[in-house]
Amino acid sequence: MVRRDSPRLSLSFVTSNAAKAAEAAVFLEAEGIEVHPVVRRLPEPQSERLEEVASAKLEAASDLPGAVLVEDSGLFVDALGGFPGVYSAYAFRTLGVAGLLRLLDGYPRGAEFRTAAALRWRGVKEVMLGAVHGQIAREARGTNGFGYDPVFVPEGERRTFAEMSLTEKGSLSHRARAMMAVSSRLRELLARPVSESSKK
Ligand code: IMP
Repeated sequence: MVRRDSPRLSLSFVTSNAAKAAEAAVFLEAEGIEVHPVVRRLPEPQSERLEEVASAKLEAASDLPGAVLVEDSGLFVDALGGFPGVYSAYAFRTLGVAGLLRLLDGYPRGAEFRTAAALRWRGVKEVMLGAVHGQIAREARGTNGFGYDPVFVPEGERRTFAEMSLTEKGSLSHRARAMMAVSSRLRELLARPVSESSKK
């Protein structure tokens, strides 16, 4: 639903993965928030918390004006004690989806995708979380999306993320849930009086 009554908001979404920006835009643009993708590789510190990684990425984008959003995501598999979690990119490069399926052979399939979205605007810096629980499929299915999408089936669905359209994934994913929080926070900040120093 587009909120035509509200003032137009816009933000820069900084990422090296254009698919993330496209997915975030599905939710944010429906909320009347314009998304400008800024394709840039941001340094990621080694940390055990997605929130810390997202905050550090936001610091690295401190030269950009206006509302700035970055995010860090990971797949947390129950039977593997939350692995790969913050190591998801590394595990994807080394084990890949096939390696993850081999690791889980004979184990329960529950898993959670999480996103930590860090927002800076009008002098405020905040990290908001979104998560979706689901199951790791028995085999990779679908060609849409990226990363672990072919093996993740969100709760209440039979299809993997990779079998869904961008709009479908973008309305129910961990990223969409984090974007929901970002959208409400932006509106709260918009309604607040702004001091001269924090206007940029
Ligand atoms: P990062 O947030 O870019 O560091 O993502 C870590 C790893 O998780 C990368 O291998 C991504 O491809 C993967 N990943 C992040 N978000 C998603 C998603 O929405 N679907 C599938 N894989 C994802």
